[in-house]
Order: sequence, then C-alpha cells, then structure tokens
Amino acid sequence: MIQYHQPVLIQEIIDLLDPKPGKTYLDATLGNGGHTIGLLQRGAFVYGLDQDRQNLSIAVDRITQANLSNRFYPIYGNFKSLGQHYRQHINLPLGGIIFDLGLSSNQQLGQGKGFSFYDEVSLDMRLNTHQNQTAENIINTYPADKLYQIFTKYAQEKYARPIIQKIIRARQKSPITTASALADIIRQYYQDHHLKTHLDPSTKVFLALRIAVNDELPNLKKALSQTLNVLPSQSIVAVITFNSTEDRLVKSFIRQNQDRLILPFKKPIRPSSAEITVNPLSRSANLRSYRIK
Ligand SMILES: C[S@@+](CC[C@H](N)C(=O)[O-])C[C@H]1O[C@@H](n2cnc3c(N)ncnc32)[C@H](O)[C@@H]1O
Repeated sequence: MIQYHQPVLIQEIIDLLDPKPGKTYLDATLGNGGHTIGLLQRGAFVYGLDQDRQNLSIAVDRITQANLSNRFYPIYGNFKSLGQHYRQHINLPLGGIIFDLGLSSNQQLGQGKGFSFYDEVSLDMRLNTHQNQTAENIINTYPADKLYQIFTKYAQEKYARPIIQKIIRARQKSPITTASALADIIRQYYQDHHLKTHLDPSTKVFLALRIAVNDELPNLKKALSQTLNVLPSQSIVAVITFNSTEDRLVKSFIRQNQDRLILPFKKPIRPSSAEITVNPLSRSANLRSYRIK
C-alpha cells in the first residue's frame, strides 16, 4: 500500500476554512492531496496547485481513487504566480487558500532528489526540475562568504564557518555530489568536536540549501501579496510553516497589511502532543491565518 504524506493540523484547517457544498478553495501546495481530500470530503470544490509534477500526479490518482475528482481541478505551477494561475484557471470567488509549506514526506525521504540525509544518488534539491539552480552547484561552486550567507540567513547554522571550511576542503579533493556525502562531512565535524544535537547535524544546512535552491522566501512573499488581489472580502488564508525563517516572513506580512486583514487568532496554532506522537514530522508546524476585510 502507498504510504501518503500525512496532512498536518488537518482538523484545525477544516475548522478554520469551514468547507461545505458551494464553497471553493485553492490548495496552493497540493502535495499528496491530504488537506484537499479533507475539503473535498466535506463537499467543497478544490483547485490544487503544485510545482512538483510527481506529487501532482500522486494527488490526482489518489483523489480519483477516492471518487472525489468531480469537484477537483489540478494545476501545475508555482504559487509565486498565484494571480496568473487564478486568472487562467479559477476566476470565481474563493472561500480561501491553504499553503502547507515545505516538503511532503515522500519528497523528504525519497532517494534521487537530494533532500534526504541518506540520499546516495543526488544532491539536487529542486522541487521543479525545470529550474537551473541545484544544491550540488551551490555546494561545489559558491565561495565561502556566499555559503555563509545562505547557512546563517536561512537556517541560523551556528557552526557555519567551520562547516564551510570542511566543505571547501572536501570539494577541492573531489566534487560533493550526493546528499549523504554532504551529511557525512557535517556529521564528522560534529563528532570531532563532540557536539550534541537532538536533530541530525545536517538539518540546518539542508534546510538552508533547500530554501536557496527553490527561492522559497521570495516565492512565498509574492504569493501572499497576491492573495490580497485575488480573494474577496471574508475569504480566509491559512499558512502552515515549518521553520522560523518562513514563520517570520508570514508574521511580518500580516503585520504590514494589518489594516486590510482580520486575524482569526493572534498566536500561531501548533500541533497537539498527540499529533506529534503520531506524526513526528508535524513537530515544527505553525499555523497562521488571516481573513480579508
Ligand atoms: C508539505 S507538502 C503539502 C502536503 C499536502 N498538504 C498534503 O496533505 O499532502 C508541500 C507541497 O508544496 C509544494 N510546493 C512547495 N513550494 C511550492 C511552490 N512555490 N509552488 C507550488 N508548490 C509548491 C511541494 O512540491 C509539496 O508537494
């Protein structure tokens, strides 16, 4: 049986968006379709957008198998062009938009994409394989100061400088071409210096690279600002973030536009300990939301 990505904060999303027959939503990060299926099962119509063709097709198959495809419309693309996708495919009043950021579990853990610490095939990290930049290119060609910017700005890696020295020394011998080779370099640094961490030592460097490769922060900024143009009054946006860099961006967008928004709640909603036990990947999730005035 296929192991699908488990949707995070699903009940909280349903309560917030209040899906029902006659209402239409955009799921801007379709993934394996977990949140979309929750909305479809309550009678809503859903447009599902994803920039990863493989995930788009996984979700389409799953929704078809669940006999829910008559109220579902898939869109391939990047949410940075939200307004364009809206005008081209949707053009009717939406009840809301959901962004569930980051990676689905199949992207994160699979071989060949370079996101997993144990990927022995690739150091790619592109969600959309049509774009040019890869993590392999960044790791093997960027000068130390540019790597430092990426590791510290996007993921606050406190051992950025010594890790970069190790990376540069390693790549002078031979190019670093797999995620597992990069993870080994970082792991070795932690071991040599008896550094302890409850997460894998590569977590921050991998996060920073993924954000850089996929231009994640500028894309999110563009998408959020376009929600103000495409959504009618009273419609709602839900954003689930998984790291403090993204969460800060959402928080500051809301603050900058507060005169145009109503906040259903002030503090972000976090998964319960029961959810974290069942789905450890949910542990860093933060749900923020705004309604258009
Ligand atoms: C955490 S997963 C979503 C999981 C989904 N909610 C579910 O329950 O299955 C995030 C998805 O967003 C997609 N994605 C990330 N950035 C994107 C962007 N800028 N535009 C479109 N899709 C994006 C990823 O390819 C991935 O499939």
